[in-house]
Amino acid sequence: MIALGIETSCDETSCAVLDGKDNILSNIISSSLFRHKPFGGVVPEIASRHCLEQIDVVYQEAMREAKVKASDLDLIAVTQGPGLIGSLFVGLCFAKALSYQLGVPLVPVNHLEAHLEATFIGSRMPAKFIGLLVSGGHTSLSLHHRGKITVLGSTVDDAAGEAFDKVAKLMGLSYPGGPVIEKLAREGDPRAFQFTKPKQKNRFDFSFSGIKTAILYEVQKARFGLQDGRVAGTKTLKIRLHDAADIAPLSDEFIRDMAASFQFAVTKWLVEKTLDAAEVKGVDRVVIGGGVSANQYLKNELVQAAAEKNITIGVPERLLALDNAAMIARRGIEITGKKKKGRADLSLTALPNLHMG
Ligand code: KG4
Ligand code: ZN
Repeated sequence: MIALGIETSCDETSCAVLDGKDNILSNIISSSLFRHKPFGGVVPEIASRHCLEQIDVVYQEAMREAKVKASDLDLIAVTQGPGLIGSLFVGLCFAKALSYQLGVPLVPVNHLEAHLEATFIGSRMPAKFIGLLVSGGHTSLSLHHRGKITVLGSTVDDAAGEAFDKVAKLMGLSYPGGPVIEKLAREGDPRAFQFTKPKQKNRFDFSFSGIKTAILYEVQKARFGLQDGRVAGTKTLKIRLHDAADIAPLSDEFIRDMAASFQFAVTKWLVEKTLDAAEVKGVDRVVIGGGVSANQYLKNELVQAAAEKNITIGVPERLLALDNAAMIARRGIEITGKKKKGRADLSLTALPNLHMG
């Protein structure tokens, strides 16, 4: 079995080849991140144009590195959603054309489910586990039992990665915020700022907009002496972030301490809820996935806290935590299995709001 994975849900264009023994023969990723940086976030039109430019080059490179020919392919797995519609269409149309030309089965893959499978590339999926998905657009806790996925909770506002990105932006740091904050946090005091843990009706739901607003106020206080975004006795002052960074730059100490305090709080909430879900559901295995699972501090804290409760944590290696096509190929193989189910015809279309499960 030789499977090709194709991933174009956002700013990355990726193709990967996996063999029947789950070896990654190639996993080529072309990122358009450098094109989005000046805008402080992903620009959908730029992302889809990049995918269009890159898809054939990345495919050829993946096949060359894997040393396989198109006629060797047994399966084509492609991201169907969720994601940016323009980017998704590029991968999907490419996959459909290839499937039609070669007569190779086409399998649509849910990007979020694939993230939670990245850890298992090269090993067997456990029968039961809790999945913590922490990416740029999604945050959720799910129960996985013999292929059946039940979402236990998700974010009611921002995703975890989005919170990292927005907090970095508030402090005038570059995009994406996650890696920048992680680096700065190493030298900051995690107790310098305290944040209130948000309360949710559903104990497994998350919320990150409150901490973002609290940080906005701290930033305004540090820059302009504002209290809760106001100068005493005046109306709310609207400050353009780019202007603010020039007019009143934050001290290095403030930025490092805020990065550490933010990462500390968010990690604590993620760890507590995840282990709570494992205990409530009686599951001793947890798997994390998505861009934020590349965060070493989160991984360390989760592994340490879980060990005290005899819970095992599965973490993907850094490259597989971020968007990549190896996880798509792996998920495609898992879906089709021996029964050859899950195949799609050429009417397959992109689903930008696809849910997990
Ligand atoms: O899964 P991903 O690559 O793309 C989506 O499917 O969204 O996740 C991207 C997100 C971004 O928000 C980025 O800031 C975050 O993952 N991220 C991190 C780290 N590396 C990437 N967040 C925290 N710490 C990191 N080291
Ligand atoms: Zn992703």
